Amino acid sequence: MTDQPLLKVTNLKKYFPIKGGILGRPVGEVKAVDDVSFDVFEGEVLGIVGESGCGKSTTGKALLRLIEPTAGGVHFQGKDITTLGTDEMRKVRRDMQIIFQDPYASLNPRHNIGKILSEPLLVHGLAEKKERTEKVHEILRIVGLPPEAADRYPHQFSGGQRQRIGIARALIVRPKLIICDEPVSALDVSIQSQILNLMEDLQEEFGLTYVFIAHDLSVVKHISDRIAVMYLGKIVELADRDDLYDRPLHPYTESLMSAVPEPDPDVKKERIVLEGDVPSPSDPPPGCPFHNRCPYVMDVCREKVPALEAVHVNHYAACHLHTEEGGDADASINHLKGEKA
Ligand SMILES: Nc1ncnc2c1ncn2[C@@H]1O[C@H](COP(=O)(O)OP(=O)(O)O)[C@@H](O)[C@H]1O
Ligand SMILES: [Mg+2]
Repeated sequence: MTDQPLLKVTNLKKYFPIKGGILGRPVGEVKAVDDVSFDVFEGEVLGIVGESGCGKSTTGKALLRLIEPTAGGVHFQGKDITTLGTDEMRKVRRDMQIIFQDPYASLNPRHNIGKILSEPLLVHGLAEKKERTEKVHEILRIVGLPPEAADRYPHQFSGGQRQRIGIARALIVRPKLIICDEPVSALDVSIQSQILNLMEDLQEEFGLTYVFIAHDLSVVKHISDRIAVMYLGKIVELADRDDLYDRPLHPYTESLMSAVPEPDPDVKKERIVLEGDVPSPSDPPPGCPFHNRCPYVMDVCREKVPALEAVHVNHYAACHLHTEEGGDADASINHLKGEKA
């Protein structure tokens, strides 16, 4: 890993207009991604987790400008890509690929796998016709499929095989970064670990960098070096993987963690069930977005938005339990704080 991040995201926002009335005028906005900043270093896996609807996919797509960000910067290899024109952006897309949750929806059902996998090579002018076939066979082998797969169609494959094809399509142009948007969420549990293992092997073999999105902490645990936890369009905690699991600082992370099955039957774990609903991103509550569900809510939480700040070295949280304003928080929540680094 180098010091300069491969990807630097600064104050990223994506607001979707809500149109109303017969004139379809904007009557409000959905703050799907609301001021998100993070770095991704070369060769690392950054996990992004959070409940459905918290803005993970929108973040992932905005990084590639499959959705245009409302505001903020996306610096790839030191260059802000949010202002690039179509041609320059196409070049960047060779280095930044995406894998979707539902490979079936993203694979053209009328094209055979050979054609589907040749397409990115064609778009980026990476190989002549004969070489394309070789490259297709090579990438199929790499993702664990036989060369005959090239002549078949998406519906002839199982969910796990289709995700292998989705991975092959991203990998065939030899990108530096892959955004993985819940790549195993739609698969049977028995298949999930096969695909996760494949992705881990590929990451090592090709020195890839992943932004790995999941709604479930158990999926990202093994593969991630660092993890960002999102809630209602914001990152509420960001830390090294082990640090996050050993001493979560944000009550939302703590509750997600309590839902992860504990492999050791001797360890007793209390399941924290959150009260209240996730507020609408079109009408977020004042103060901390989590305050209406937080078991430790204080007065300050209803008024002031907590900033994402370093609580320990490389361990960031946006929670008043850890800010100056909430500094005199009740001693009963001290177990949340862990030891100061
Ligand atoms: N194209 C869109 N138009 C309007 N709202 C959208 C659009 N895409 C996503 N949203 C809203 O943005 C929020 C975040 O969605 P999404 O990024 O898909 O969350 P996640 O991937 O974490 O489940 C949700 O409230 C969702 O309804
Ligand atoms: Mg999603």
